[in-house]
Amino acid sequence: MLFLQLLLLEVVLAGGDNEDAFQEPNSFHVILISSFHNRSWVRYLGSGWLGELQILGWESKSGAITFLWPWSKGNFNMEQWMELEELFHINSITLFHKFQIYVSQWQLEYPFEVQLVGGCEMHSGKNLVSFLNVAYQGSDIMSFQKTSWLPSPEGGSRAQQVARLFNQYYSTNEGIRKLLSAVCPQFLSGLLDAGKADLQRQVRPEAWLSSGPSAGPGRLKLVCHAAGFYPKPISVMWLRGEQEQQGAQRGDVLPNADGTWYLQVSLDVGATEASGLSCRVRHGSLGGQDIILHWGHRTSPGLIFLAVVAPLVLLGGLAFWLRRRWTQDRRPHTDFPLEQSSSSPATWLRTHLQTARQ
Ligand SMILES: *[C@@H]1O[C@H](CO)[C@@H](O)[C@H](O)[C@H]1NC(C)=O
Repeated sequence: MLFLQLLLLEVVLAGGDNEDAFQEPNSFHVILISSFHNRSWVRYLGSGWLGELQILGWESKSGAITFLWPWSKGNFNMEQWMELEELFHINSITLFHKFQIYVSQWQLEYPFEVQLVGGCEMHSGKNLVSFLNVAYQGSDIMSFQKTSWLPSPEGGSRAQQVARLFNQYYSTNEGIRKLLSAVCPQFLSGLLDAGKADLQRQVRPEAWLSSGPSAGPGRLKLVCHAAGFYPKPISVMWLRGEQEQQGAQRGDVLPNADGTWYLQVSLDVGATEASGLSCRVRHGSLGGQDIILHWGHRTSPGLIFLAVVAPLVLLGGLAFWLRRRWTQDRRPHTDFPLEQSSSSPATWLRTHLQTARQ
């Protein structure tokens, strides 16, 4: 399965979620998805990823590649990019187009999706692994091996037919080989260099506690949040004293749009057992100074903010608004030329107040 591979790729890239295993991303890959709705309606979506960070976008209408980070161009110049853009556009559209032409021979059924993932991975700075896989409706059809396409066993006779067709295009395949074995690693090492400041940055997590929906009467769900940290490896743990509490539920480490991460770890306990528990957050950015939050009488900062600050801000805003309205209404008539056509509630109110005062 293609997604299994993507998952595997993610595991390899993340280097596990161990706090000690900090690793720079060492792979670049492109994902292309084409959705075939019917004979005449197709949509292509593309993206480029450095490890788990999206750095390129691509959209088939203009065929233009968009750069999501200032360093997304790596060390390629504009001319090289334009060449790549064209190569990429023509090759991918041609490849996908075949699926439309061979719909009946390959027994494809509308609507369907064809997915492609390809890129390269560098191990210990030198050792290169490149890959290119194509899937139909989420199952592998074929993969590119050295210079040609290999049908995947689970794709059956359809995969054989598809691979046979694509293996006829020698010059295209030679182009693909070059992209994977030469262009990709060159681009990857340029990226790692150009993006160094962002990729090697350390951003401290913000941490707080909250209570989640309880599992039943007399039970409490304690939730410890860590947000906005980078890089990804982090340890968040519920403790009593120094003792790690078993049965804590760790969520997925979720991405933020700015490339930082979020994680929550929850613990289900009896209401009487909650006091004395604490949450410890350990992250490379903290320089060995763990964040420790105690569950207790004190409400978490997030809740204090919501309960106290938010209403105050709202009240303040309301008072300000009312005051402004009031002073405006008391200005001389000429200050406020009323537009007859305007019918906003404020204008309506003003008109009526003025009429009343006259
Ligand atoms: C193809 O699908 C699109 C989008 O759903 C639709 O607007 C169009 O009419 C369809 N065309 C045909 C020939 O069925």
